[in-house]
Amino acid sequence: MKIPITKPWFDNKELQAVQEPLKSGWVVQGPKVATFEKKIAQFTKVKYAKATTSCTTALHLALIATGIGQGDEVIVPSFTYIASVNAVEYVGATPIFVDIDLNTFNIDPAKIEEKVTKKTKAIMPVHLFGLCADMRPILKIARQYKLKVIEDAACAIGGFYYKKHAGAMGDAGCLSFHPRKSITCGEGGMILTNSKKIANMVNALRDHGASKSDLQRHKKAGYLLPDFNIRGYNYRMTDIQGAIGIEQVKKLFQILKKKKALAKKLYSSLKQFPWLKPPIVLKNYIHGYQAFVCLFWPESPFNKSGGLNIGKLSSLYQKRNKFMDRLEKVGIAARPGTHAVHTTNYYKKKYNIALTDFPNALVADRLSVALPFYPQMTNKEFNYLITNIKNVWNHW
Ligand SMILES: Cc1ncc(COP(=O)(O)O)c(C=O)c1O
Repeated sequence: MKIPITKPWFDNKELQAVQEPLKSGWVVQGPKVATFEKKIAQFTKVKYAKATTSCTTALHLALIATGIGQGDEVIVPSFTYIASVNAVEYVGATPIFVDIDLNTFNIDPAKIEEKVTKKTKAIMPVHLFGLCADMRPILKIARQYKLKVIEDAACAIGGFYYKKHAGAMGDAGCLSFHPRKSITCGEGGMILTNSKKIANMVNALRDHGASKSDLQRHKKAGYLLPDFNIRGYNYRMTDIQGAIGIEQVKKLFQILKKKKALAKKLYSSLKQFPWLKPPIVLKNYIHGYQAFVCLFWPESPFNKSGGLNIGKLSSLYQKRNKFMDRLEKVGIAARPGTHAVHTTNYYKKKYNIALTDFPNALVADRLSVALPFYPQMTNKEFNYLITNIKNVWNHW
């Protein structure tokens, strides 16, 4: 049996939907993208949702549109997908890493304030794996120091924090529609905002800086040429992606419901493996469960005093990798959650960071395990997964 880490949920609906733009000939950012945006804005309860080619490009534009640029500092968690941090560098700003809370895998709000300097202009909380970062203290610090908040909600469609959707709490929030996310249109991203100014700016920035979109020009009789008041990019989503996105949003409630049910089964079955810590469940949060990321925890890598025992972490890391390799051998894909960006060669060298500068991020990098997780998982596949986790552990 082959169990992938995830699987997009496509059926005849998407197959039919992609034919429409192909038949009409309108294949780039047009009516389908506009409908997709409207549906996402409704679901996340924001005034404006603006589609882009990916979450990475969405983050890039969100940073420009909130005025972040050369010489500014942006606070980012040290454990996130590298794209969050790359986007900060795209605008010439400097990423300032902050360690995470190992219970949530998200930025530790208690460690943010000590990193605020005169150059700090923004905080980029990441709602990793679908669980929102603790936004109340983050927004409080942002208000106090007049910082912008750009939420990286790449993983977090369906994630809520005190009834607010991920990405809808800061100045701007960015979603991803990459195939490892709960809904996908191949590649794709979306900027959420309640600010008309940011929405208008993103509108132009994603379209070479044009003051009028193709759709506006098309609707007008005669011809209408745009002016270019700012330097923009080509980050337009295609209408083929938009058409797929519309069908995916229609399935969103069903996908989230099935994911929640699968998570419940996993929480129950994983109780027999105390060495594998499942994702935390928090009051007033709804986990979007983009992924089901556990911590491989036969023992703690921390000393009694709280310090990180590097020797112990390194042996646990090897053991975790062996655990994933053994699952792979029986056809089950398990993967590290994501990476500690400060340990990647580029950032480590550029900012002269030691691995242990952010110990929780390092531990998450070395010991996290994402289990296969997709709404279509059958009982047979689920049982195969649990049986093999048991077998691997019992025959260590
Ligand atoms: C936390 C986070 N931020 C940003 C991204 C980038 O998203 P995209 O692949 O849509 O550019 C990802 C993608 O995996 C992610 O997990």
